[in-house]
Amino acid sequence: MEVGGIQALRRWRAEQSGRVGLVPTMGALHSGHQALMTRARAESDLVVASIFVNPLQFGADEDFVQYPRPIEEDLGKCEEAGVDFVFAPALAEMYPSAPEVRVVAGRMGAVFEGAARPGHFDGVLTVVAKLFTLIAPDVTVFGLKDIQQFVLVKRMIADLNFDIELIGLPVVRDADGLAMSSRNEYLTGSDRERALAIPRALDAAAEVAERSRETAESGIGGSSDSGAGPSDVSAGLPAAVEAAALAELEPAAERGDLEIVYCSLVEAATLRPCPPDFTGPALLLVSATVGGTHLIDNLPLEF
Ligand code: PAF
Repeated sequence: MEVGGIQALRRWRAEQSGRVGLVPTMGALHSGHQALMTRARAESDLVVASIFVNPLQFGADEDFVQYPRPIEEDLGKCEEAGVDFVFAPALAEMYPSAPEVRVVAGRMGAVFEGAARPGHFDGVLTVVAKLFTLIAPDVTVFGLKDIQQFVLVKRMIADLNFDIELIGLPVVRDADGLAMSSRNEYLTGSDRERALAIPRALDAAAEVAERSRETAESGIGGSSDSGAGPSDVSAGLPAAVEAAALAELEPAAERGDLEIVYCSLVEAATLRPCPPDFTGPALLLVSATVGGTHLIDNLPLEF
């Protein structure tokens, strides 16, 4: 495994002829990152992992300086996962001066996670575009847990004509159903118990969607329930799916177990709310704060 900055990468890249897979990271690697690397390995002849804590995606009040940088441990994990080249550039190499020209995430970058973090997704897309240009991968693998980031990268690839295949790896969950995240370390035992309302909300939503599909397939039609409620689909399936998730989250919020940041069913391609008669790929996006920890999760659905 080689490790280096821009010069070493350019030299290495010029010598390679096989299909190259890229896994972009900010380091502090865990088993989720290693799963992305394993997938990249399966999809390509050579794997590049980038480790770069990108200042452009941190707000002024966020933890850019304190962000963990355990480089020796990270290199060990890359080696273990079969990475061929670790691109670990210095800050001054990536940004010799503050960039004037940046990628703008637009409306899709200003909603949900972007609403509370102005400029965050511009920073993400700018650095990802730089990594794509420098590494010139054939395929790149991202986790679907940060679904808004994934949707934006997908859109950037299309809008800016990057000739790169994008693969999303499904959310990895612990045995209790909570989506794996480095932030889970901040949860106490009881916080974690309270956070389980999030996967329960997604399960409830999935059940409503599934039941409605079965009803449609059986040709019986109509509302699956006699009255209004989480599984009443008379207002449209998207509203019923969202209501089923909220029926789990709102009582938890009323008990003070968590604070709901958002719970919305959106079109996967645009992140706009699904109209009642929507057909196609959709996403149920959920975010809640539990004991001061910001958690996100999502459920992909097909209507
Ligand atoms: O998901 C991340 O770790 C970062 O946002 C990324 C894609 C490496 C860009 O800095």
